[in-house]
Amino acid sequence: MIDLTILLDGRSEDPLYTQLYQYIKTEILSGKLAAQTRLPSIRALSSHLHISRNTVDLAYQQLIAEGYVQSRPRSGLYVIDLELETLSSSYSSSMNMPKASVQERSAIQYDFRYGDVDAEHFPFSTWRKLSNQSLQMNQQMLVSYGDPIGELGLRNEIANYLHGSRGVNSSPDQIIIGAGIQYLLGIVAGLLGAAINSIAMEEPGYDGARTIFQHNGLPVHPIPLDEDGLNIQKLYESKSRIVYITPSHQFPHGMVMPLAKRMQLLKWAADMNGIIIEDDYDSEFRYVGKPIPSLQGMDTHQRTVYLGTFSKCLLPSLRTAYMVLPPALLELHKKHNYRLYDQTVSQLQQKTLELFMSNGHWEAHIRKMRKVYRQKQMTLISTIKKLMGNQATIIGQDAGLHILLRVHNGMDELELIQTAEKVGVRVYPVSPFWTHPTQAERSMVQIGFGGLSNEDIITGVHALHHAWFNNY
Ligand SMILES: Cc1ncc(COP(=O)(O)O)c(C=O)c1O
Repeated sequence: MIDLTILLDGRSEDPLYTQLYQYIKTEILSGKLAAQTRLPSIRALSSHLHISRNTVDLAYQQLIAEGYVQSRPRSGLYVIDLELETLSSSYSSSMNMPKASVQERSAIQYDFRYGDVDAEHFPFSTWRKLSNQSLQMNQQMLVSYGDPIGELGLRNEIANYLHGSRGVNSSPDQIIIGAGIQYLLGIVAGLLGAAINSIAMEEPGYDGARTIFQHNGLPVHPIPLDEDGLNIQKLYESKSRIVYITPSHQFPHGMVMPLAKRMQLLKWAADMNGIIIEDDYDSEFRYVGKPIPSLQGMDTHQRTVYLGTFSKCLLPSLRTAYMVLPPALLELHKKHNYRLYDQTVSQLQQKTLELFMSNGHWEAHIRKMRKVYRQKQMTLISTIKKLMGNQATIIGQDAGLHILLRVHNGMDELELIQTAEKVGVRVYPVSPFWTHPTQAERSMVQIGFGGLSNEDIITGVHALHHAWFNNY
């Protein structure tokens, strides 16, 4: 018998028994709890962890039900041998699969993770060639830290691109390059920090941004969404003078803020002497309607910080993003010595990206990827509609690399995720995007499609349909 020492969080949304069950399951799947290991008795574990016997019992029952452990009469509970489990026929060859084996349950074949991008169409050979070229051209750069706000050549390219495609008005001096939007938001939070007492953001909204603000000591004020984006009246009522927002593809709901509302938001900023932090993370992938210019481009009062990234339309592993600071914040950036922060993106990579943009590969890549993702999105939506009909509602299909799916089968978020996992499919929760997760919609999941092939999308959705509607 082994001891299990686990830190259970009594304040978490997840009940203690779920935390305990998850912990043991992960230990088994990762091999840390070897086959045939005997679990501690209910009495021993409850006294060791100072939790009730009922909690341990519930966790153990769940593990038994899912086949991770086996009860041996008068002996106890034993971890089963995953290797020995027979693999029943794969989902695609048997729509009437009786019960998923443990191996099937643990092996995720179709991961609808938002954030993954298409690898097949990335121009690796061009990138390699330009990378070599920038290495040969610029050996001197390897011995220096480079410009703290990013190389001028790349900032020039970004300024030109943003003006043409998003109507952003900027000079290269206003552009700051950094390793991801989150990193740059940390700088914005630092710049604003002393002057403000809270920051408003969409509810639900991007949890990656909320965490950065909170870590910088800025309380977040959640503002509800209307059909067409942030509720401006509630924004006024919040008394916050700063708002973080994703107007061109609301994260995660996906609505595009119409022109009239953009004008109201800009008026709010002028009325409140406020600042808008515009996160334009994936505006390259808009599939329906005319492109709407960025808020920054429409802002005659220069109260907008504009942020964009190469994570979606190029590769997330490049860790390259940029922001355009309005003059007032640029002043603060200088005054408070932010140029002492060394650049976080390698010069070699900046140079390669600059060449990629200046040689026309960037525009061509965006055009190609817009088609690739549009096709994937159509495959996803048409397969869902065909199989699930009005038993599921698709949300946010005008743009981007993910959708939300409201599933009408009585399951809540956790059940939807767990039943999907049993047939080898991973879908993701929406509740973490809420400041108050208990207010999240009960039966909704997030489905990203960027990293899957059209074929895998189809098979994955078939498996989801099976898991959710055939009494799995
Ligand atoms: C709304 C939003 N902003 C920003 C990002 C991340 O950008 P980066 O990779 O540059 O940090 C994401 C990624 O998921 C996102 O959803």
